[in-house]
Amino acid sequence: MCGIVGVLGNHEAAPLLVEALKRLEYRGYDSAGIATVNKGRLDRRRAVGKLVNLSDLLVHEPLAGKAGIGHTRWATHGAATVTNAHPHRAGPVAVVHNGIIENFRELREELATHGLVQESQTDTETVALLAQMYMSRGMTPVEAARATLGRLHGAFALCFLFDGHDDLMIAARKGSPLAIGHGKGEMFVGSDAIALAPMTDRITYLEEGDWAVITRSGAEIFDAEDRRANRAETRIQIDAARIEKGGYKHFMAKEIAEQPVVIADALKHYTTPEGGLRLPEGVDFKGVDRITMVACGTASYACHVAKYWFEQIAGLPAEIDIASEFRYREPPLSGQSWAVFVSQSGETADTLAALRYARDKVARIVSVVNVPTSSIARESDLSLPILAGVEVGVASTKAFTCQLTVLALMAVKAGLDRGRLTAEQAAAHLGSLRNLPGLMNHALGLSGVIAEVAEELAEAQDVLFLGRGAMYPLALEGALKLKEISYIHAEGYASGELKHGPIALIDARVPVIVLAPRDGLFDKTVSNMQEVMARHGKVLLISDAAGVEEAGAGVWKTLVLPEVEAAFAPILYAVPAQLLAYHTAIAKGTDVDQPRNLAKSVTVE
Ligand code: F6R
Repeated sequence: MCGIVGVLGNHEAAPLLVEALKRLEYRGYDSAGIATVNKGRLDRRRAVGKLVNLSDLLVHEPLAGKAGIGHTRWATHGAATVTNAHPHRAGPVAVVHNGIIENFRELREELATHGLVQESQTDTETVALLAQMYMSRGMTPVEAARATLGRLHGAFALCFLFDGHDDLMIAARKGSPLAIGHGKGEMFVGSDAIALAPMTDRITYLEEGDWAVITRSGAEIFDAEDRRANRAETRIQIDAARIEKGGYKHFMAKEIAEQPVVIADALKHYTTPEGGLRLPEGVDFKGVDRITMVACGTASYACHVAKYWFEQIAGLPAEIDIASEFRYREPPLSGQSWAVFVSQSGETADTLAALRYARDKVARIVSVVNVPTSSIARESDLSLPILAGVEVGVASTKAFTCQLTVLALMAVKAGLDRGRLTAEQAAAHLGSLRNLPGLMNHALGLSGVIAEVAEELAEAQDVLFLGRGAMYPLALEGALKLKEISYIHAEGYASGELKHGPIALIDARVPVIVLAPRDGLFDKTVSNMQEVMARHGKVLLISDAAGVEEAGAGVWKTLVLPEVEAAFAPILYAVPAQLLAYHTAIAKGTDVDQPRNLAKSVTVE
């Protein structure tokens, strides 16, 4: 993770760097720093904690100069201290880094034998020291950076700045994304195009192994073999306004509220005005013998829900793996199968590595992503954007429901392609999906009631979420949302599994949230709920009116949602699960949009 930025501008760099870092804070917020070259002199400022601390520092100790680099950190090596904050500096070299240098210990020992000793615990300072060593042997900055890059193993995006050079940056990419921005007589570098959006919309993405020598007049890009490389410049459309809170207290609240609109947008994009499917041409499941879906965290729960759809609606065998386990398991993959990678950011290192493992082993690499210019999208044979718009809150909300929506459309298409659905049955499913935005608006109306429930939930030490069928992965997602932003320990279980161990946890202090639309499994879920109540567990039943009427007696609280086609209930029930987490976090006073220890984009393994 970590966000990096670089500016060779015609105006003061510090405000531009800070503005860009603000847009990259989703990648980490343990510390932040900038370095500039002013009248040939390299200097830096660093502060622990959020970017606002760096901004405050810059008020008291401003940093002039029109060339600069900046960094926002998610700690990997070494605690969040000023010494470990980037930019790291060694003599004439300053460097910012995203990723992990795997051989930094060997390099550090080698450098020590030359009297070059690190002051920080980071792998990044090793990079700066190496470049310093090469420069002290008479190399130019470009030669020294190139020699340094050749010594590094692991995944990185790097940007170098040099004392005495206010028209030079060197950027490099291996495993972590990096974009170069083109201005008028100005050049920029950023971990993503969003960071550069206020400065330019003209972007060149570096490819794996690329490195670039950047001056105000342009970028010379070289590939891993040092050949001149031509990388296309693209125009990126990023609506800056969509990165504002728009009157909401938190991005998460805004993003939860946006769901009916963005899901309607996704449905509009992937269906015809007459209501038929309009998925990209390559989405044809004829001859596909199975799909393997791979993702991390919330995105993996979207895959778990979709497994039920692919199997039940389309009769297509579907496997799920969490990306960090997938390639190490060395799963055999069928040449007639598809591997489907689901990711909001499209940059998650584990998911990207899993995609690369699957390449050449399956018939098609498909991705379902929110960022269409991301590495995962670009490395797929076929990529379906989920069209959720920029998601800033670290806890994923609208991306989850948009992922579900696109996966549901794919499952319906698979049902048609495989002859498992008639046109009428497919139309009925699509009709149910089209009803979702309206139903979600109704669910959003429960926010006030949920805020009251959350006041009590905030007192809990442990919370369980239960669900059956496709509501089981939603129970996992509800628990993940709650723990990541309220720091309350929460677990999701398949309700039938409770009696095989977790029921030992139940007592009067443990709230149990039961996600139970009145579907074919309702009676069984209610039996499991009764087992909890018999042990004095506090049950919050989330169901429809008929479900609450039938089983709500004696429970601690109920939340009533509108009726929905059973298959797609997880999309609707995600809303109260998200609101419960949100309001509980508010009641506990935690940092909703930037919870501790987390980052939005996880670009390290
Ligand atoms: C949880 C959350 C994470 C992400 C996971 C994958 O709210 O956001 O669990 O879902 O880190 O990230 P992407 O989807 O960007 O690959």
